[in-house]
Amino acid sequence: MISDEDLISLAKVARTRSYAPYSRFTVGAALVTAGGRVFTGANIENAAYSPSVCAERVAFFTALHAGARDFSAIAVVGGAAGEPLRSFTAPCGVCRQVMREFCADGFRVLMTDGEQIRETTLGALLPESFSPDNLRENG
Ligand code: THU
Repeated sequence: MISDEDLISLAKVARTRSYAPYSRFTVGAALVTAGGRVFTGANIENAAYSPSVCAERVAFFTALHAGARDFSAIAVVGGAAGEPLRSFTAPCGVCRQVMREFCADGFRVLMTDGEQIRETTLGALLPESFSPDNLRENG
């Protein structure tokens, strides 16, 4: 299984493929499945702004379209374009909700500021969440 350090390294490589001419804030993500497959993504912005997509969702949708479903962790790195990492980048609220669709509370989220690794979980990032379970209860 890939190490946390190697997953973060892949997120850093993915960040180099960001398209962020408007915010100039580049983000990379690397998502690993329980079986060890890794899918990466970077944020892709748009002149109309709202069609912009975060790195995490690019990684998730790429993985889902490839048939992956069982996810164990995601590494996320972000910072000013062309600059080294300086601070932790946490997944935005929309990405947390996308994760919730496919991941349980124990899904691991790794961040780094370039020096230290911070690990949290989806359950900590999105407590009391609305999930597919809610609709099943009502179905
Ligand atoms: N962004 C991500 O890709 N992931 C995050 O976790 C936070 C924000 C992107 C969206 C936008 O392209 C840029 O960073 C600035 O918000």
